[in-house]
Amino acid sequence: MIDLHSHVLHEIDDGATSIEVALDMARWAAEDGVEVMACTPHFLPGVYEPDPALVVRRVAELNDRLMDEGIELALVTGCEAHVRPDMVRRLAAGQILTINFGRHVLIEMPPATLPPHMDRFFFDLMNAGYKPIMAHVERYRWAERAMPFLENLVHAGVLMQVTAGSFFGDYGRSAQDLASRLLDMGHVHLVASDAHDVTKRPPGLSKAWAYVQSTLGAKEARMIFRQRPEVILLGDEAAAPKTVGAEMS
Ligand SMILES: [Fe+2]
Repeated sequence: MIDLHSHVLHEIDDGATSIEVALDMARWAAEDGVEVMACTPHFLPGVYEPDPALVVRRVAELNDRLMDEGIELALVTGCEAHVRPDMVRRLAAGQILTINFGRHVLIEMPPATLPPHMDRFFFDLMNAGYKPIMAHVERYRWAERAMPFLENLVHAGVLMQVTAGSFFGDYGRSAQDLASRLLDMGHVHLVASDAHDVTKRPPGLSKAWAYVQSTLGAKEARMIFRQRPEVILLGDEAAAPKTVGAEMS
């Protein structure tokens, strides 16, 4: 499996608090069957502004440690970019990291209120050649009331990521209900851990895989947990077919 959203990188945001925690998280993920994990520290100006060069260096260092420790997990770079008006400019300037240096950008929205003109924001991003992934769509308190907006984005090609724990109520009843509704609608394109530690928000995707497989079948589960993220990592222009049951060669 491939996990495209995690805070495994240590001492850079509210994720792993030390390299030991990062190694524990990596070990947990590998034992659960995760082979590749994207390190996606928050990018929220004024709060978290990791220097992309530092992120790249830390990922390389942590990969070396994983090798030394015999942990079979490969890390790639990325970030979780909080929505902001100058995102295209910051992406172009290299201040915001895409997933594995490709065109996909993991985007976090405000939790409580949907800001105005967000459709325009996403279309501008796509017009500039980027491929947005909306992080943990089921957890926004506005999402339930904004289905037409979300559906418009899906049809335009924005990918929707759901957090594995949401299927099991880890983020409350409404996130659980919305995760399952989006899954039934075919609007869940990626499932990721959004892991922050090994206690409250641990890594691991296998339980969610089993849940998705029991709901949508093995073929779609493979698409969500393996094939689509793999294509995103490879940066293929044909990446990420967005409909349920879509075929990839
Ligand atoms: Fe996150």
